[in-house]
Amino acid sequence: MKRRVGILISGRGSNMVALADAARDPAYPAEIAVVISNDPTAAGLALAEARGIATRAIPHRHFGRDRAAHEAAIDAALAAEEVEVVCLAGYMRLLTPFLVGRYAGRMLNIHPSLLPAFPGLETHARALAAGVKFHGCTVHLVTEAMDEGPILAQAAVPVRPGDDEAALAERVLAEEHVLYAAALARFLTGDAGRAPTAALHNPLPDTLPAP
Ligand code: GRF
Repeated sequence: MKRRVGILISGRGSNMVALADAARDPAYPAEIAVVISNDPTAAGLALAEARGIATRAIPHRHFGRDRAAHEAAIDAALAAEEVEVVCLAGYMRLLTPFLVGRYAGRMLNIHPSLLPAFPGLETHARALAAGVKFHGCTVHLVTEAMDEGPILAQAAVPVRPGDDEAALAERVLAEEHVLYAAALARFLTGDAGRAPTAALHNPLPDTLPAP
């Protein structure tokens, strides 16, 4: 029986689409019950609608500084769709302990770095500036501290000579789409605690750059 998953987005929604497309497989353990955006103009809302998924725009701007009221509205929308598990997919608002607590142990996030390296924003630029040779993405459980919850799965990609932010972001994003769907399935089928999902899909460069 498929579990009901709600996805929170703020923009493009490519990870949401990856989850939604995976969930079309009858054997996949999740169905996407609702996609909620805090930005009514988020491109991902139209992509979800096109897939026949229920959508809700719950603009944080309507709630002013009252983050609790905004989260209460999100919580009500999730409950109305009988959501069991929440996936953050490019959701750009920090959550308060209220919503994190409501979904403790059943709220996942995808972050575009190999955590604990590069929490927060602009991860690709920071990875390039740091000169790391591997970068990647992480699926983790959401806790009150940003980008610090238990790691469920990671995928690494090489940083190639000449990479700019856009090239690196594109390489990581392709891995995000595969990893998130795999990590959610593993989480829902109870294998998450046994062994972390790890992936290194991209081959190393043929030649290493001179130091
Ligand atoms: C992704 O890189 C995700 O890891 C980060 O925000 C971006 C969202 O992209 N949290 P999209 O909206 O899923 O296309």
